[in-house]
Amino acid sequence: MVKYLKNDLVLARNPLPEGTINLTIGEPDIIKRALEKTLTTFGETLNYRFDPRNSKYPPAAGTDELKQFLSFKYQKPVVITNGAKQGLSAAIYALRDDKKANIYVPKPYWLSFPVLINKEGCKMVHKEATADFSLITAPNNPDSNIDYISYTSDKPIIFDGAYYCQQYLPNHKLEVKGNIHLVSCSKKFGLSGLRIGYAICESEELATKMSEYLEITTMGTSDFSQKILYDIEVFFYNNPNAETYFHNQCKNKLGVNINKLKQIDKSILDPNDIKPNGMFAFLKKGKNFIKATEKAKVNIIDGVYFGDKTRARISLGLDTEIFAEAIDKLNKSIV
Ligand SMILES: Cc1ncc(COP(=O)(O)O)c(C=O)c1O
Repeated sequence: MVKYLKNDLVLARNPLPEGTINLTIGEPDIIKRALEKTLTTFGETLNYRFDPRNSKYPPAAGTDELKQFLSFKYQKPVVITNGAKQGLSAAIYALRDDKKANIYVPKPYWLSFPVLINKEGCKMVHKEATADFSLITAPNNPDSNIDYISYTSDKPIIFDGAYYCQQYLPNHKLEVKGNIHLVSCSKKFGLSGLRIGYAICESEELATKMSEYLEITTMGTSDFSQKILYDIEVFFYNNPNAETYFHNQCKNKLGVNINKLKQIDKSILDPNDIKPNGMFAFLKKGKNFIKATEKAKVNIIDGVYFGDKTRARISLGLDTEIFAEAIDKLNKSIV
């Protein structure tokens, strides 16, 4: 247990030495700037104003307003969660059905999976044959691989769609995936501070089980965050042009960072595996990796936490100027 918790807490925001550029955390700065720019360009101010009289315990599965809109949009039952992270715990809780389930997770995997799976009394396995159900992420964290987008199984699937949106995919036709499809508003809109996401469920039964988890652990999701998300979802639903503009902004900026990363010296990180999707690059470490990150004061997370100690993960979500500065500093540190 302690072993797993340590793994998850690697991302805890411990203070870093002054002047350090942090490429470790998947903070989607690019996405939130693009959202801000889109709202301004299209003159959208969002409706919600705080009124203390309106604050009450929300229903566990989400406020009627947001839940009904999303259920209509996806034509499936939806449960609102405290980010996709809580959605993952709730989905595991719903599918394990009081059993100590084996959950198939392909390698490499997001570093929080071992913790979350273990916390629900289940076991992470890397062979499909021994699993009760699967947990699939596409585009993947850490390597932005999209092969698993078309994954199918005769067992249930939790589809972690944190990066499965136009922002991170080149012209892909989106559809609802798996038995429980998780959406992260941190990654979709850059709103990580709202701590909100949602789960699109295949059946009412799964939605009810997931809301049971929400009731037990948090008594629902902040109604304030739900109102903001409702306004944003409705705004994009009613303004497809604004949505396209937003996606293009995100893709352009991510593209700038991807191109910059291609300039990294091979002796620090091998740029050959950079993918045109997702929010991360997961690259082979070179002989100068440690020296360069220390000298340049650029924080990059080791691949060991994601199941591959030969690599390291870089977040592409930082603003383009800061990202470029980090790559330049790394390259200069070895000359
Ligand atoms: C693959 C994956 N799933 C889920 C999450 C959780 O996102 P949220 O902020 O919505 O809880 C993350 C966050 O980094 C992630 O990378």
